[in-house]
Amino acid sequence: MNKVKDYIEQNRELFLSQLIDFLKFPSISSRSEHKEDVRNCANWLANHIKSLGAENVNVFETEGHPIVYAEYLHNENAPTVLVYGHYDVQPVDPLDLWNSNPFEPIVKDNKIFARGTSDDKGQLFIHLKAFETVLNTIGTFPINIKFIFEGEEEAGSNHLDEFIEQNSKLLECDTVLISDTEWFDFGLPSICYALRGIAFVEIKVKGPNRDLHSGSYGGTVDNPAEVLAYLISRLKDRYGRITIPGFYDKVLELTTEEREEFARLPFNEKNYCQSIGVKQTYGENGFSVLERTWARPTLEINGIYGGYTGEGAKTIIPSEASAKISMRLVPNQVAKEILDLFSRYIREIAPPTVDIEIKPLHGGNPVMTPIDTIWMRKAKEALRIAFGVEPVFIREGGSIPVCETFQRVLGASPVLIGFGLPTDNIHSPNENFSLDNFFGGINAIANYYLLLNEK
Ligand code: BES
Ligand code: MN
Ligand code: MN
Repeated sequence: MNKVKDYIEQNRELFLSQLIDFLKFPSISSRSEHKEDVRNCANWLANHIKSLGAENVNVFETEGHPIVYAEYLHNENAPTVLVYGHYDVQPVDPLDLWNSNPFEPIVKDNKIFARGTSDDKGQLFIHLKAFETVLNTIGTFPINIKFIFEGEEEAGSNHLDEFIEQNSKLLECDTVLISDTEWFDFGLPSICYALRGIAFVEIKVKGPNRDLHSGSYGGTVDNPAEVLAYLISRLKDRYGRITIPGFYDKVLELTTEEREEFARLPFNEKNYCQSIGVKQTYGENGFSVLERTWARPTLEINGIYGGYTGEGAKTIIPSEASAKISMRLVPNQVAKEILDLFSRYIREIAPPTVDIEIKPLHGGNPVMTPIDTIWMRKAKEALRIAFGVEPVFIREGGSIPVCETFQRVLGASPVLIGFGLPTDNIHSPNENFSLDNFFGGINAIANYYLLLNEK
């Protein structure tokens, strides 16, 4: 609709300056020193939504960070869409690799740079501006809409499941809409129909009651750092296949059609390696890179620490050593079951010389959504209208834990229309978001809202 496009055009500068205000809050959910910043960001967001004309705007307290809710329900005969996004962001370190301050947004080369631009404040904001655009161009909002914005997605969404279970009536909807994923490539709008789940654990190996002199005790006491290295080496074979018994039992195998669909996407392995600075790819035999990232589970060491790592030598047997480990899961694996298998296996292979502590940090189940629905068909059409290109269906390797909760508790499958690009540097220094995708995204989502009211 031209009126929609015109409204967005006329408000470009305003939308951008509002997004900049939103980005300035350092809403880092995993750091307790930013608790107030996260709250201030939630309040700003709630006030902004209120100013657009949404109703029943609420900032719900949780034991973690607040949840922002709002709605606009003025057409009994139309479907109800629940829009989810997260206003929290990842930590910014290493800070010295940023070319500008992560919380002082700047525009350069038609991109906006700041933490959260793409993941997920910029994408979340698309929905608010699309809501505003539709409301102000046609004078009413043609469908029913509910917004739920969370403040602890990057920290594991620890209080959201409970909130959804306790407020299932408030959140009742026909479909869920989320922009927190990315396009397969430049100029290639993508709809994501499956995300991996995640099971995250911290493991600690405890040995002697203090660091010991490695000359006086070396050879008589088991070394926690070495035990940890041994345990880790038994989790995967050299080819990336996980060796935890039962790990693959529930894995949904790829169909031939799906493999063919993946293979049709414009993927170039050489460019892929170059873009991340590796000599070659690695992983489970018999699967392509896309198959491995989208449809195969994996186990990764995220961090490993213990003993002396400072300057110079310090000859000790460390008293303990730890690692953080995440496993990405695919349908139909269940995060809780995988954590149990992991713990059981570690206990089985651990030597009796040490104590082992296994702390599950958080988990989320994988999700897969049907693609032959009216919600998906209209999503494709809206993207076609806004970007003039035929969108592709893709899966992603990342996780948005709440997706499976929406499916299970509300019976509504999320439609994942993301606007990020692979070059957005999410979770990395110099995170950015393409302004073409920001404004094009507003146009696409506004059109989607309008299409959903048509039979
Ligand atoms: N938006 C991402 C998930 C994502 C990334 C989807 C890339 C598709 C492509 C989300 O904010 C995220 O980072 N999720 C975490 C979840 C974890 C902290 C529980 C993830 O995937 O590591
Ligand atoms: Mn995100
Ligand atoms: Mn993220």
